[in-house]
Amino acid sequence: MTTPYRTMFNLIFAGMDPERAHHLVYRGLAIAGRVPVLRDMVQGALAPYLGRGAGGPGSVEALGLTFPAPFGLAGGFDKNAGCVSGLAMLGFAHIEVGTITPRPQPGNEAPRMWRELNIDSLRNRMGFNNDGAHTVAANLRRLRASKRGRSIIVGVNIGKNKVTEAADAAADYAVCARVLAPYADYLVVNVSSPNTPGLRDLQSVESLQPILEAARAAADEATPGRHVPLLVKIAPDLADADVDAVADLVKDLGLDGMAAVNTTIGHDLGPGGLSGPPLLDRGLDVVARLRARLGDGPAIIGGGGVTTAADARAYLDAGATLVQGYTGFIYVGPLWPSRINKALVRQARQLG
Ligand SMILES: Cc1cc2nc3c(=O)[nH]c(=O)nc-3n(C[C@H](O)[C@H](O)[C@H](O)COP(=O)(O)O)c2cc1C
Repeated sequence: MTTPYRTMFNLIFAGMDPERAHHLVYRGLAIAGRVPVLRDMVQGALAPYLGRGAGGPGSVEALGLTFPAPFGLAGGFDKNAGCVSGLAMLGFAHIEVGTITPRPQPGNEAPRMWRELNIDSLRNRMGFNNDGAHTVAANLRRLRASKRGRSIIVGVNIGKNKVTEAADAAADYAVCARVLAPYADYLVVNVSSPNTPGLRDLQSVESLQPILEAARAAADEATPGRHVPLLVKIAPDLADADVDAVADLVKDLGLDGMAAVNTTIGHDLGPGGLSGPPLLDRGLDVVARLRARLGDGPAIIGGGGVTTAADARAYLDAGATLVQGYTGFIYVGPLWPSRINKALVRQARQLG
């Protein structure tokens, strides 16, 4: 369907380097989020479900929090927590920032992000470019200084530096958890990005257990008296038996939940992980599998290939507690989160 946004996308963004387009949009959102009159007007129109207080139709009780609607932004868009307020204004009901590593790092050399226009997908091998845990913590501290900033549900997605050996990975996750937990509504241990060599091997139970234990202990130490929920994010390329094994570990350790899925390397389009519609079927399978294995307790943040409210609904029906997405934002545009959440809230209201 050709929408006004899609026409603008084709005319302006499609001819522009994807990373340059990202920076332009990012800066625009950072600025808009700091102009109270504009921000409140846009949010009032796009996201009346935000700021209505806890417990309205469509809100989700999960991770000890009340999410005002089910749909949020997945990790990777706002790696440094620089435009959280602008993203919330558009109607994302939670925003996952990161992936953040202990020390700043530039990521892989460009080009490292490509559009797959004929399948509304993205391919990336960014490699955790980010300003490092301390700078991002300072950004989050500023955000949390205002009432509005405290009201936005912010998940913090953490990783390891490229130069850190796999054997030392737990220490990197612990540093991030310690530095960032004080500002996080929840933490996500990312062991599933395909663009840091060896990272996905950390999904094996033997490697993952010490990482999760170290992150849990560091978060607890940093936030006495407050439990910051800890989740682990997995790849769609894991074999079913490995999905089950991670779920069993999450249960054994009493973690708060899982996020599924990250980008896939199961394609022949070139370097990098693929996101967007090709992920939907496998993402739904993984979420259904996780729900069967985890039982009712732990939360599941489902995502991968969500374009429409029906896709988000499918994740919820498969057993997800919450849903998130990234690539649809690029192809559908700024009204995307609001449309999805408004539809989900409407459905919840009709169901009573
Ligand atoms: C350009 C780009 C960068 C990403 N960076 C991260 C990241 O840093 N950490 C992470 O956990 N996921 C990252 N992701 C994966 C997304 O969070 C999401 O899991 C994946 O794209 C599937 O959702 P989607 O099909 O809605 O995009 C990235 C995705 C894209 C497209």
